[in-house]
Amino acid sequence: MFRPIRLQHVSIKHRPLVSTFCTSNRRPLLFGPGPANPYPRTLLAMSRDTLGHLHPSFIPVMNSVKKELQRVFQTSNKVTFPLSATGSGAMEASLVNLLEPGESVAIVCHGYWGDRITNMALRQNLKPIRIEGPWGKVIPVDKIAKIIKQQKPHALFVVHGESSTGICQPLHELKDICGDTLLIADTVVTLGGMPVFTDKWRLDVVYSGSQKCLSCTPGLSLISFSERAMDKIRKRKTAISSFYFDVLELHKYWGDDKIYHHTAAINNIYALDETLKHINTVGLPTMWCQHKDVAEYFYQQLNLLKLQPLVPNVKDRLLPLTTVRIPDGINGKAVQRDLVNNHGIEIAGGLGQLAGKVWRIGFMGSNATRENVDIFMEAFGDVLNKHGFNNNYINDRMCI
Ligand SMILES: Cc1ncc(COP(=O)(O)O)c(C=O)c1O
Repeated sequence: MFRPIRLQHVSIKHRPLVSTFCTSNRRPLLFGPGPANPYPRTLLAMSRDTLGHLHPSFIPVMNSVKKELQRVFQTSNKVTFPLSATGSGAMEASLVNLLEPGESVAIVCHGYWGDRITNMALRQNLKPIRIEGPWGKVIPVDKIAKIIKQQKPHALFVVHGESSTGICQPLHELKDICGDTLLIADTVVTLGGMPVFTDKWRLDVVYSGSQKCLSCTPGLSLISFSERAMDKIRKRKTAISSFYFDVLELHKYWGDDKIYHHTAAINNIYALDETLKHINTVGLPTMWCQHKDVAEYFYQQLNLLKLQPLVPNVKDRLLPLTTVRIPDGINGKAVQRDLVNNHGIEIAGGLGQLAGKVWRIGFMGSNATRENVDIFMEAFGDVLNKHGFNNNYINDRMCI
């Protein structure tokens, strides 16, 4: 007689959850540029009962998220909240709110994200002033200062962690050169994994994504506006061209008024609240040290494998994410496919002019452990051998 299978009787090996996405039986390991694996408590929080966006029991969650976000962004900015959109939505929100058509924005361009911001700025009839440099190199502050001094743009846009090249463009030195120019910072890859001090560094608009070093589920971004930014926004002569991203409207929901704007991403916000509480309990300095330690350990292991990071200078590197040069004659995509299909490990290839030239490998948030580096390197060494990059990684590691 046919007996239906009850899920609790099925061993973890046979549950479809993982094997739907990859042929390995292990939990998927997300070692690319994000999303990273969420914390188990984050995933559990997602499954709580959904509430309405103005339900009395949801209001304390909103208040908690705002408070925890201020801690993570290191700010006392009142206008700090999540957006129902990914990091790209926050990118657009920063431009569309802060700047009016015809105004200028200087953009630090040395990777894929600088190009994307330029594209967004042009669509909003802004005047982008590109401060260009080679991909994979930090742009010296003097060069930025010169352009700010000469052209006095309304805003300066800087990506803190260029995830296409693996560099970290310093933000701390910019407050001394900006003057009346407002400073917009993309911290999608750095928040939670490297120091970000919104108030101390005088960032006027700062945003991040939920799914990278915070290890929350994808789908939300986080944004914070300084009083100086809000002052400019309140004095605009033209309406903010996006209703969905209008910070003045959004603040009526996230601030004290609690007026409906759109249906909030309730379960994502539970997950965010849980994640931020976890991070603030562990402590940001601990998170930063963990990412640094794991990055340095990863560089050592890459060295054993005789692979080169794209960014030569260690102090310029983006700690949560490393771009690794693909050796001559190796098919980068085939290596990625083998890793995901046979080891359940996801990494990514290059973007834009670095497509086919680098892999992007990240140990972010909950994934930032030496144990994960070991798991990855063992699989990577093995896969590379199969694909013609002969190495003795396991033996070499035993010898040190
Ligand atoms: C530096 C940077 N900014 C913005 C984004 C866009 O974020 P999302 O993919 O969440 O829209 C990314 C995504 O990788 C990023 O690395």
